[in-house]
Amino acid sequence: MKALVLIGGFGTRLRPVTYTVPKQLIPIAGKPMLYHVFDLFPPELEEVVLATGYKADQIAEYVRTHPGRWPIRTVPEAEPLGTGGGMKNAGDGMSDPFLLFNSDVIASVDVDAMVREHLRHGGVGSMALFEVEDVRPYGVADLTPEDRIIRFVEKPEPEAAPSHWINAGIALWSRRVLDGIPPGRAVSFEREIVPGLLAEGVYGFRLRGYWDDAGSPDRLLNAQRLLFDAGRGGKGGVPAGAFGSGPVAVMPGARAPGASFGKYVTLGPGATVEAGAHVENSILMDGVHVERGATISNSLLGPKVRVRSGHRVAAQVVGEGVEV
Ligand code: GDD
Ligand code: MG
Repeated sequence: MKALVLIGGFGTRLRPVTYTVPKQLIPIAGKPMLYHVFDLFPPELEEVVLATGYKADQIAEYVRTHPGRWPIRTVPEAEPLGTGGGMKNAGDGMSDPFLLFNSDVIASVDVDAMVREHLRHGGVGSMALFEVEDVRPYGVADLTPEDRIIRFVEKPEPEAAPSHWINAGIALWSRRVLDGIPPGRAVSFEREIVPGLLAEGVYGFRLRGYWDDAGSPDRLLNAQRLLFDAGRGGKGGVPAGAFGSGPVAVMPGARAPGASFGKYVTLGPGATVEAGAHVENSILMDGVHVERGATISNSLLGPKVRVRSGHRVAAQVVGEGVEV
């Protein structure tokens, strides 16, 4: 089986960091968002195809230098084609069925069990669904007791939402769904294609456990918390010579002797936190430098950000290279 990963969005809600780094390469709990998606794949995949667009070269270079367990191929789009257009553009030679993943979701999902259920139902597709209170930012499914999806509405008004079960961005589709996507133009798979497939049998696979779409600052930090709590953020603890509770995920070359840490921190490659500084519930990307006595909380600091001595950064997203 092959997996197709949609990776072309602009990451607008994570600007200004995403002006220079695609959101899929932002580290959460010690590794890029995209690599937490890779962790969900069955080990025996034949190939992973990345449908890329925005900052395609950066993604291609990162996966070239950080290979996974399977061959990875990137198929860039000259202009954004939407989710369906991206599938069409990258879909040549897909397996039947194939796995479809959004690149910004973190989840506990047993993909093998999902594949088994998909084959048992024998429909054209199976979508992992997760139950949430506020369904407005998502695609929402109405299901029968047998988990057959009978209606699917992308980003409904609350009164039009058929249930609280949302598209988790993880699915299995028959290869022939690609034939139904018009070529050469932007297509929303969720709005234009999925509703028309329901008659052929699309089933919901209800997820328990954790799930999040890490596409906004709050949700990114929530996703990091979920991953750490699930034990997917490395050994925990704090960096050598530092104090506090952690967990802190320390990426290669990061150091923080004499600094203190609260819960849920990623120190990106080569990040430095000086003695007497404090960091909690934050992501510090590569080369960030936090000077003595500064305090960082609930924030995302882009590459090479410098925080001056004694400064306090709370609930901020700071773009690459900025000094605060
Ligand atoms: N190749 C390509 N081209 N990929 C794209 C494009 C594009 O033009 N636009 C978006 N993507 C990718 C994004 O990078 C992301 O991985 C995925 O497609 C979904 O796009 P988002 O922009 O993150 O959509 P969303 O979060 O508003 O909604 C989607 O995800 C929800 C779950 O998080 C939908 O699939 C909803 O139905 C779903 O509930
Ligand atoms: Mg999203």
